[in-house]
Amino acid sequence: MGVFYRWFGRPLLKFQDSERAHLRSLKMLRLFSNNPLTRSALKLTYKPRKSIPVEVFGNVYSHPFGLAAGMDKNAIALRGWEATGLSFIEIGGVTQHRQDGNPKPRMFRADSTQALVNRMGFNNEGSEQISENLAKHFSKYGAPNVPLWVNLGKSKITPLEDAHEDYGATMRALWKFTDVFVVNVSSPNTPNLRELQNDEGLIRILEKCHTVNSELALGGEGKPILVKVAPDLTDQQLEHVVNTARSSGASGIVLSNTTLVRPDSTSSKEEKIFAEQGGLSGRPLLNRSTEMIRIVSKMTNGEWPIVGVGGVMSAEDAWAKIVAGASLVQAYSGFVFEGPSLTKAVVHGIHKHLNAQGYSMLVDAIGTESESC
Ligand SMILES: Cc1cc2nc3c(=O)[nH]c(=O)nc-3n(C[C@H](O)[C@H](O)[C@H](O)COP(=O)(O)O)c2cc1C
Repeated sequence: MGVFYRWFGRPLLKFQDSERAHLRSLKMLRLFSNNPLTRSALKLTYKPRKSIPVEVFGNVYSHPFGLAAGMDKNAIALRGWEATGLSFIEIGGVTQHRQDGNPKPRMFRADSTQALVNRMGFNNEGSEQISENLAKHFSKYGAPNVPLWVNLGKSKITPLEDAHEDYGATMRALWKFTDVFVVNVSSPNTPNLRELQNDEGLIRILEKCHTVNSELALGGEGKPILVKVAPDLTDQQLEHVVNTARSSGASGIVLSNTTLVRPDSTSSKEEKIFAEQGGLSGRPLLNRSTEMIRIVSKMTNGEWPIVGVGGVMSAEDAWAKIVAGASLVQAYSGFVFEGPSLTKAVVHGIHKHLNAQGYSMLVDAIGTESESC
């Protein structure tokens, strides 16, 4: 954790409501990245000095560590994320229609367990406004210098049977700005959304997204479409979703979203937080999300790209996901508890692991755990 964040950032944030602290940090990041001097300072302080190129989803990523969905839903601080050295940025969840999400408070922090519970409910400005935000950004600053991913969610007002239209409309609105789309059928905070992990729902959504893709690509390469699933699937259900997603043309999978399972609490304060409704993220999610990577990597012989997310607080956590089979890794909660210096710590740590194992490229390390078992 960076000294500045440890001494000033985290103690200050501790006294604030979690969501307010989050919004304040986002605005600060945007402010800092708009000024050339403070932007250079951000780069100097946080940007990793090592490059660990990895080619996946039609792009070369400068290293495997990126921003998970939910942190910058409306794409307001893109230059800030770039400046802190992430190798890709996932915005959203974006839904077709603008929505406020669930009533506040809806985000809770359990500091000693390094976990968050949230029931945001896809609060976002909606596909049209976010498309305008991106159009403005692109015309003023050009495309971000790292791949931009969009997390697709379903509007609450859209009935489940019309979900594919909602995902398709958002994809259409954001298509020209996006490098990779993630079909999120696993947020626990939109009623019944997780049912869309079932065959019929998932197939219909992916078919719709492929139709939009080929229409807008005008015969060229469509954008990669990934599926993001819940850690609460049984192993058998997970294998089923993988087969369905793969045979429906998804380019890869994101493992995983937040969990409904709760860890043991270390105090009565935490007990109250864990009793809140919503999805839990952070350290307690690490093992299950890494185990899912292991399962999917094995069943697909490492031939279908996996993005690992859940509980990454250090280079060791990210490395565990890579050797289990992940080509890319993301974090959300890690940035809340460790601050922006997490990126440098993770990338430099992975670089050390690669050297220690005698690997020259990241691809040499992906999924190697199963070879040594
Ligand atoms: C406040 C909050 C909002 C989130 N919003 C989304 C979202 O809109 N779409 C999505 O796919 N995942 C969302 N996530 C899940 C994260 O992207 C990630 O999958 C999960 O938090 C596990 O990673 P972590 O342990 O590094 O936080 C959200 C997580 C949090 C904490």
